[in-house]
Amino acid sequence: MNNTDIQLDIKKAENSRIDQVDFSNLQFGKINADHMMYCDYIDGAWQTPQIVPYGPMEIEPSAKVFHYGQAVFEGMKAFKDEEDQVWLFRPEQNFERINTSSKRLAIPEFPKDHFFTSLTTLLEMDKDWIKKGEGNSLYIRPFVIATENGVSASESNRYRFMIITCPAQAYYNKPIKVIFAQEYSRAADGGVGYAKAAGNYGAQFYPTKLAKAKGLDQIIWTDASSHEYLEEAGTMNIFFRVGDKLLTAPTNDRILDGVTRKSIIQLAKDTNVDVVVEKVSVKEIVNAAKNGELKEIFGAGTAATVVRVDGFEYDGTYYDLPTIDEPYGTFFKKSLQDIQYNKVKDPHGWTVKAF
Ligand SMILES: Cc1ncc(COP(=O)(O)O)c(C=O)c1O
Repeated sequence: MNNTDIQLDIKKAENSRIDQVDFSNLQFGKINADHMMYCDYIDGAWQTPQIVPYGPMEIEPSAKVFHYGQAVFEGMKAFKDEEDQVWLFRPEQNFERINTSSKRLAIPEFPKDHFFTSLTTLLEMDKDWIKKGEGNSLYIRPFVIATENGVSASESNRYRFMIITCPAQAYYNKPIKVIFAQEYSRAADGGVGYAKAAGNYGAQFYPTKLAKAKGLDQIIWTDASSHEYLEEAGTMNIFFRVGDKLLTAPTNDRILDGVTRKSIIQLAKDTNVDVVVEKVSVKEIVNAAKNGELKEIFGAGTAATVVRVDGFEYDGTYYDLPTIDEPYGTFFKKSLQDIQYNKVKDPHGWTVKAF
């Protein structure tokens, strides 16, 4: 990648933990690679990024992140191809999005050279943790937290930007069942739904727990004011196939502008799939399910790439989706993964060699 020579302070782990890891049996996000990066914001400036062995760190109990939730994060992946080259998928999008999220939470933006130099150095140091093969990747979690101590409700003047990584296999290995939200909301107009703010996720756990108690896996969030339009899932954007049309909601200030979503929209255009980016009404989808026109629903996001929905609950009724030949979801998942693992020519210049 094109990095300027910014200075990093590096302290290598004395011993790698890699031999203790069973890479064929990974629980998503549980195991971390040997190193992590942190960079502090002090007195109005981001300091020298540090790469150190992964491990606990000291933080004061009065740090503002614990009290006011001033925290944002990102999710991206590094992929290894058959020649052991390591690739990132549209990493600039994640870099820009974390700064969009930071701005909304009054967190200072992180410099691009700090981000890419430390990310690529970290990946090179932990390259053995990136395994080849379909579904395998190193999940990358950049995040920023407010570290100033003091329990007064105001923005922090100290922050820590960090990058940790976790080896990952495919996120969901079976189709999911969802419920369309009618009571709770994920995001409101003028709020932080479009940001990857930590609080957006914490607020979903309770309604999701209720859904899980009914045997459903996830919630498809609807607009907060009317609950009439389908917006996105907890960690994925969502696509509906009605007849041969592929529908997805336009982004707005309640919806995360997903990298996978925008890549699928582009791939759909490339392959002459009739993709419609317009508000998707609950009524339209329920009617399509009733009259057999609803062929597919799938979620799209970095962690899962694409995951099939095999049914949804709405207003107390469960609607099963049919099993169809040549689903769009499978096609787009394969098309994306072929690009991500450098198996095919990347027509849009999305993949970037990490080092
Ligand atoms: C709320 C939400 N929507 C959508 C997505 C999908 O975005 P992306 O494709 O950039 O991973 C994510 C995951 O980052 C998410 O957390």
